[in-house]
Order: sequence, then C-alpha cells, then structure tokens
Amino acid sequence: MDSNQIRETFLDFFRSKGHRIVPSAPMVVKNDPTLMFTNAGMNQFKDLFLGNSPIRDRRVADSQKCLRVSGKHNDLEEVGLDTYHHTMFEMLGNWSLGDYFKKEAIEWSWEFLTSPDYLGLDPEHLAVSVFAGDEHAPRDEESYEHWRRMGLPEDRIFFLPKENNWWGPAGITGPCGPDTEMFLITDKEPCGPDCSPACDCGRYLEIWNDVFMEYNKQADGSYLPLEQKNVDTGMGLDRTIAVLQGAPCVYESDVFRPIITKIEALSGRKYEEGGEVQRAIRIIADHIRCAA
Ligand code: SER
Repeated sequence: MDSNQIRETFLDFFRSKGHRIVPSAPMVVKNDPTLMFTNAGMNQFKDLFLGNSPIRDRRVADSQKCLRVSGKHNDLEEVGLDTYHHTMFEMLGNWSLGDYFKKEAIEWSWEFLTSPDYLGLDPEHLAVSVFAGDEHAPRDEESYEHWRRMGLPEDRIFFLPKENNWWGPAGITGPCGPDTEMFLITDKEPCGPDCSPACDCGRYLEIWNDVFMEYNKQADGSYLPLEQKNVDTGMGLDRTIAVLQGAPCVYESDVFRPIITKIEALSGRKYEEGGEVQRAIRIIADHIRCAA
C-alpha cells in the first residue's frame, strides 16, 4: 500500500465503525494561546473535550497535519540524525467525544493493526504499554485486561509511568489522560534484561497511541476529572507507511522519496552518500515538505 491507500484504509475502517470523517485543521493554530502550531490530532477537538462547545458528532476520525518544533513535543533537533524523526507529519486518529471508551478503542486498534483486511501486521511482532498509575490516576488494569482479551501475552504488555504512558495536555493546561501505546517489535535484539518500549534502543517502534482523555490539567499542576470520558488516538501515517513498505526509514518511503530525488537532481549529491550529506538531504526534505 502507498501512503494514499493507507490513509483511505484507515478512514474507511473508522467510517464503518460509525465515525464521521473530518478535514485536517490548519497547521497554524489561530485560537489557542497555549499553542503556536497544531502538534496533535486532538488540538481541533479541545473545546469539545472540555465541554466548551456543543458536540455534533460523538465519533470522528481524520488525518491531521501536525508540526512538532517546540515545547515538550519538539522533534526539530532530531531531524536527519535517525531514520524516523521529522517535524511535519500526518496523524491518523479516531475520537470518541463522550461516547465509547477503552474497550472499543483497544478492540478497533487491534483489529485495524492485525486483520488481513487492514494492515495485517503479525500479532507476534506487536507489544503494548499501559499506564502504571501514580498519585493522579490509578494503574490502568482495564486496558491491561482488554489487551489480554485480544490475546497479547503478559510479557508483551508493559506497565510504564507517566513519563511514557500519559499524553497531554497539548499546551500547558487542558485535556489529558493515561494512554496505551502500540509498538512494532523490530529485529533488533533486546538491549538488556530490562529492555522495554521505554528505552530508545530501537527494538520497539511506536506506531499508535490510544489516549483516554479524562482529566483537565490546571495551571497549578492539579488534574480535575473531565465531565465526559473521551478517546484520542494517534497513528503516525508516515511511520506506518515505512513499516508497511518494509523501508528501513521514513525518508525512503513514498512520502519522501520524490522530494529526495528532486533534491539530488538540484544538488548533484546522492542520498546514498550517507553521513552528513544524507543528514542534510533529510533535513531539507523535511523542512521543504513542512513549509509547503
Ligand atoms: N494525542 C496523542 C498523540 O499525539 C494521540 O493522538 O500521540
């Protein structure tokens, strides 16, 4: 599948589960003083999570153009250094605005990832993480039980702390909650006995994140429960394409390859030269795509 087919497959899947497909919001945020750029699919739904605007559809899905260049979601300095960081990306997502919660979110994630009708990934190569609990929110036993029900063995379900398994708020305050993340297990050997999705050794590649938005973080650092329970999921389209196309890196997928070919033609240098040249070509490709 190429990138357009994967995007359409995702949207078709969630349409079949009763979601309305909405357009990507602009990448430059106009009405939120806590954010300069859209950095996640949930940004355009923030007022709906908070109960500040009336909800028209309780189930929506989209492919959101995102940019991560500042704050705690800052990927700018990583661009070009590795095979998967880039600043602008598309985030496939499905939302429940006070409708379904953990059970359906997890069941549908699993179905989309593993069913041969959709991505058809090998279940044996998938691992997940769930929130370990702290003083603000309990350990997420419910998500754990749903993953067990999907057939995941205990040793591929990792309980991790807030640092890894909590998402948001997107700015300083606002909707947030515990999440459960899905990882592709790559061919890299475990880096040690404690190897887990929490380390950056490259064995576990994150492909999807289901956030259970049920808190509203306040400026004083406290977490108030939201009136309604929401789901916010995010799957990086570009990274998923790389995984499905068997490309070792996002820059070698059909999203970036034509841009890189053009840069090579204009510069007379080759991506395959590696080293600084390859890094520079990745950076130019990323920044040009983002600006466009
Ligand atoms: N907001 C979450 C993320 O950006 C899930 O969509 O990963």
